[in-house]
Amino acid sequence: MDFKDQLKSSVDLVNVVGEYVRLKKSGAQRYMGLCPFHNEKTPSFTVHAARQFYKCFSCGEGGDVFTFVQKIEGVSFYEALKLLAERHGVPMPKRSLVADEDSKLREAVFRMHEQALESFRANLRGPSGEEARAYLARRGVAEGTVERFELGYSERSGRAFPRLFEQRGFTPAQMEQSGLVRRRDDGTFYDYFRNRLMFPIHNESGKVVGFGGRALAADDNPKYLNSPETPIYVKSQVLYNLHRAKEAVRKEDRAILVEGYMDAIGVSAAGFGGVVASCGTSLTEQQVKTLKRHSGRIVVNFDPDAAGANATERSLDMLLQYDFDVRILELPGGLDPDEFCLKRGAAEYGALLSDAKKYFFWLAQRGIATTADGGLESRIALMKTLVSKLQLMSDPWEQVAIAHELAGYLGIGDDLAREFRKAIVARRRPDPKPVPRRGGYNERVLLKALLDETSRRDEVVEALEGCAGVARLPTAAIFQAVFAIHRAGSPITFDGLNARLEEADRQRLAEIALTEDGEVEISREHVMDCVKQLVQSEEVDRRSQLKARVKDAERAGNFADALRLARELQEFEQAGEARR
Ligand code: GTP
Ligand code: MN
Repeated sequence: MDFKDQLKSSVDLVNVVGEYVRLKKSGAQRYMGLCPFHNEKTPSFTVHAARQFYKCFSCGEGGDVFTFVQKIEGVSFYEALKLLAERHGVPMPKRSLVADEDSKLREAVFRMHEQALESFRANLRGPSGEEARAYLARRGVAEGTVERFELGYSERSGRAFPRLFEQRGFTPAQMEQSGLVRRRDDGTFYDYFRNRLMFPIHNESGKVVGFGGRALAADDNPKYLNSPETPIYVKSQVLYNLHRAKEAVRKEDRAILVEGYMDAIGVSAAGFGGVVASCGTSLTEQQVKTLKRHSGRIVVNFDPDAAGANATERSLDMLLQYDFDVRILELPGGLDPDEFCLKRGAAEYGALLSDAKKYFFWLAQRGIATTADGGLESRIALMKTLVSKLQLMSDPWEQVAIAHELAGYLGIGDDLAREFRKAIVARRRPDPKPVPRRGGYNERVLLKALLDETSRRDEVVEALEGCAGVARLPTAAIFQAVFAIHRAGSPITFDGLNARLEEADRQRLAEIALTEDGEVEISREHVMDCVKQLVQSEEVDRRSQLKARVKDAERAGNFADALRLARELQEFEQAGEARR
């Protein structure tokens, strides 16, 4: 067994996928959830525990644990192996696989970030970190919080990392790509972050990919200096604090979205762990998709001045497009989330959080407050702008329900409300959903039996090879591959079978493998029954074919042919009797 197979057998795909997708058990071996690879409302993403295989019946994505990690983390095959090995404590043989150049560079940049984190944290504890420690104390950040969020300090000299990285054997090319140091014209390097409070930024699997550095003095610009994009840091894909928050987000089925590092830390320290920060920019589609894997509900708690700002508006639109239940939490007193938690306490924050208004009602309320007269006309105008927002959502039922509620809230008459509901439904985009092809029940049971059990394989294969109808099944190619493997005397495994198939048949096989027909264990009788039925249905087909040809010949006045075919039919029926 090579390392790849060894690793595969020691990790469980259900657990691995479960880190990224909320899965529900939906059969003896089957788990289902919302597909992480496309936007959907009802789950069609399926994971099969025994076969260690996943498949989305809607968008068609499918594969094994390696393809899943590659796809969801956006990494190479080598990196997926490495990530799984590390996460599951399986030692990776040094030369088991050769990394490609990209993977090697990324690996080096990851290592530099680990070392940078260690060094920043040591600085904060040491003599050079005194000012930063005082700053944190002044802002009410407890020592436990500093540890939990792995805060650090970058020293003033600007010479720390060039020296460190050189000692550790990193090449100038790797250093330049790390974003942690910069190159002068004369080729020498200096630190990118100097004299700043450092916030490590992690990816979803918890690896440090970049840093945010906050100035300590009020007049030091910029206030925040963030890592540039690097081979491991793609800003549009990362949400601050997600790797810590995701467990709470799932458990509470709600994410809290704030703007800043300090807000995420403050809210989390107040006991609301499911908080992530967008870091001052509008959300990207990637980030929204990522959040959606963990919950479909979100409370947006931006700074008081942010409401109506462009970035906020765009973020909210993006959330609506992904059918989030969006609520708005507006904190009184002009305080941002971090300040509010410190000054007013966790209890008050929690109360406001559970009272957060649905986005549309928040908009309606704000609209009412700003319309001068509050007359019917202005309420209708308001309703119109709300409808344009509602149309961002893809679920028509949700849209209609909210439109109805909003019309009531705005005191718009029933007739008018009906018009709005019609307008919404008429203008919504259709989303065609492909219907999965799964083949017949008998084929399904037989293929599953062949995959699961080896003991009755001879019997089944023999019976099926004698059945001419198998060649006409939609799954003919799969059966042919099974026969070939059988003839070669090899065990019939899912992977082995898969490897012999064309893409279309792979899809078919995956669908078959993942469809549950309620059976837990397929009995021998059941299997032979399916064989019999296949043979019988083949007989029925053949008989009706012959009958039709006899009729055609008679009608054409071709009696010699008709007679010959009738005799053939009779022989066929007698042979059938004899078989039973
Ligand atoms: P404090 O001011 O320390 O409380 O930080 P904050 O987290 O509350 O920051 P603020 O609300 O001012 O800004 C929100 C987020 O926007 C920050 O956490 C940063 O991610 C980002 N940000 C703020 N200022 C700057 C800046 O000058 N440059 C960049 N690149 N990002 C910034
Ligand atoms: Mn703040």
